[in-house]
Amino acid sequence: MGDRIRESWNTRLGFVLAAVGSAVGLGNIRRFPFQVGEEGGAVFLVVYLCFVILIGFPAMLVELSVGRKTNRNPVGALKMFGGGAWMYVGGLFVVMVFVIFAYYSVVSGWVLRYFFDSFTGAYTEDPAEYFVEISTGLDALFFHAVFAAVAIAIVALGVQRGIELAVKVMVPSIVVLVVGLAVYAFTLEGASAAYAYYLTPDAEVVLSNWHLVLPAAAGQAFFTLSLGMGVMITYSSYIDEDRNLSKDAGMVVSLDTLIAFVAGLIVLPILFTVSDGPSTVSGAGTVFVSLAGAFADLPYGSLVGAIFFGILALAALSSAISILEVAVSYLIDEADVSRFKAAVSVGFVAFLLGVPVTYNLVFIDLLDILAAEILLVAGSLLLMVLVAWLGTDKAIEELKKGIGDLGWMGTTWVWLIRVPVVVVLVVSLYLGFVDYAEFLREDFADFLVGEIRQLQEEPTRVSPIAYFF
Ligand code: PHE
Repeated sequence: MGDRIRESWNTRLGFVLAAVGSAVGLGNIRRFPFQVGEEGGAVFLVVYLCFVILIGFPAMLVELSVGRKTNRNPVGALKMFGGGAWMYVGGLFVVMVFVIFAYYSVVSGWVLRYFFDSFTGAYTEDPAEYFVEISTGLDALFFHAVFAAVAIAIVALGVQRGIELAVKVMVPSIVVLVVGLAVYAFTLEGASAAYAYYLTPDAEVVLSNWHLVLPAAAGQAFFTLSLGMGVMITYSSYIDEDRNLSKDAGMVVSLDTLIAFVAGLIVLPILFTVSDGPSTVSGAGTVFVSLAGAFADLPYGSLVGAIFFGILALAALSSAISILEVAVSYLIDEADVSRFKAAVSVGFVAFLLGVPVTYNLVFIDLLDILAAEILLVAGSLLLMVLVAWLGTDKAIEELKKGIGDLGWMGTTWVWLIRVPVVVVLVVSLYLGFVDYAEFLREDFADFLVGEIRQLQEEPTRVSPIAYFF
């Protein structure tokens, strides 16, 4: 480390808002409502809540205690907390930054595009065709670049002047706008049918499909709370006072869950008003296509569309900056690079990795399943082993600062992260591998075969690059 003074949050609220900003993202609005509706309504919700409280919350406390104790980026933090070889786990987190940012930024680029087009109504005529047009090729590449540039700029400005300032504006705006849209959605014709679909308990689905529902609920809990890649370690490493970490974690977990839940009260009434509810949720574009179509037929549709995609853009941006910050803090701490250089180089490389995604959407799944079902889960699992089995005393000591004696809560926490959290992670990881293998064997293999065939039929099409022009 150089002699540069390490940055820190300006206020307590700054840290909490940044962590909430990271947690609330595309995952909350694009995935969660549909998952609930499809996988058992209120029963899924209860299962999910159990996961969040019993698995997500304790796992978040693990990351917060490691971050604040060490005041380092994930690589330095794990080296300090666990010793030499553990820094490679931190290294894995830094690699994940690139895997996740690459596709997250492309999808966020679509969101930006839809936001601007809400004012012109461009997507309302033929939503499906429109999505096909803008989701790949130069259009997608351009908006991917714009989104990445904004995220890089915020991170380059620093912890206080960049991230903290941005989230202090973005997160409250998200909350206000989400509540506003939920009230609007309540007045729509399809609201009651939507609530019924969303919340009617269907234990049957959960019981008969438990091997799919459980890992889906667990995976969503980790993804949406930004756990398993060091985001929370990094953010909590900028805390410079001893305060109650469990209160902070509780706030982040509750706000994230609440916003995901309310997102369902927006998205589903809209879809039920213009059709008989959501079609199947396969494919990255479903939400874009079905909602864009809906806005055309709704009262004040273009305004609602702009607000909706605006919320999504803010949520995506406040998550994207947290993803970049993991690798940026690593370069600043360990390689003594300036923040500006670190932000630009990390962002640029991550941007380049997103380019193939704008060539064919199969790359979104290639990266998304790898990240959400394998890497984040493996990352969390390794962290739990380190903290729950090897470093409990250090972690407990850290948590006590700002709380005082933990009593039975400390013991409960330790046993939760030692056994149930580890078991859930191991099972999820196994199922994640199975799922990914199937994806590679089927969808991805189909894609490759198709590409090869096309090259044989059209030998002039020398490279995918031609696609862009
Ligand atoms: N939590 C974010 C979301 O719900 C995604 C994310 C994952 C952000 C991992 C950071 C790290 O969209």
